[in-house]
Amino acid sequence: MYECDTDNVKLRLPRPSDGFAVFELIGLCPPLDVNSTYCNLLQCTHFSTTSVVAEQKGNVVGFISGYVLPERPDCLFVWQVAVAKEARGAGLALRMLRSILGRTHNRQVKRLETTITATNQASWALFERLAQELKAPFNKSDFFDCNKHFAGNHESELLMQIGPFNAQLEV
Ligand SMILES: CC(C)(COP(=O)(O)OP(=O)(O)OC[C@H]1O[C@@H](n2cnc3c(N)ncnc32)[C@H](O)[C@@H]1OP(=O)(O)O)[C@@H](O)C(=O)NCCC(=O)NCCS
Repeated sequence: MYECDTDNVKLRLPRPSDGFAVFELIGLCPPLDVNSTYCNLLQCTHFSTTSVVAEQKGNVVGFISGYVLPERPDCLFVWQVAVAKEARGAGLALRMLRSILGRTHNRQVKRLETTITATNQASWALFERLAQELKAPFNKSDFFDCNKHFAGNHESELLMQIGPFNAQLEV
């Protein structure tokens, strides 16, 4: 199995050539929904400044896709967070979130939103930890419902809202 030395993981902006590796990583990170390669290519192209790739020795070991909400430019929506199994538990997901928030390009971001299923404890722990670091309040509410929005085929997604915060000062 590929061993990951997380101290030597480099974070950088995604580029189109990462699209397929991202597609493969997402497939290895249940319960994340697998999107089309085309979707991952767009994330790595049009949404690169609000997304991040974690790379080690040419391997993509982490990825976050995000975008700024079109109607609320101060809000970063985090779409998916994926860390390869061998790289987990070493703070990589938090590092990736910090790196997006710390970019000059994203200095207008004062709020972060994401959706999480009730059973994804790792994800709740990750975003609660981020809110703690940012010294920001957070709120959880219903968002996409299992029956109403997913026709019973997907667990309900709850909305987690963090902020306001000043990422440039606090992270
Ligand atoms: C969730 C995931 C991204 C976490 O990645 P990671 O690099 O291991 O997370 P970190 O090491 O940065 O941990 C951040 C915080 O979350 C906590 N955490 C991480 N995984 C956890 C788990 N399985 N159970 C409980 N807490 C967990 C950590 O303890 C840490 O908090 P702490 O600093 O207070 O101890 C990774 O487990 C993953 O890819 N899972 C599969 C896909 C997924 O569920 N993605 C999230 C949905 S958006």
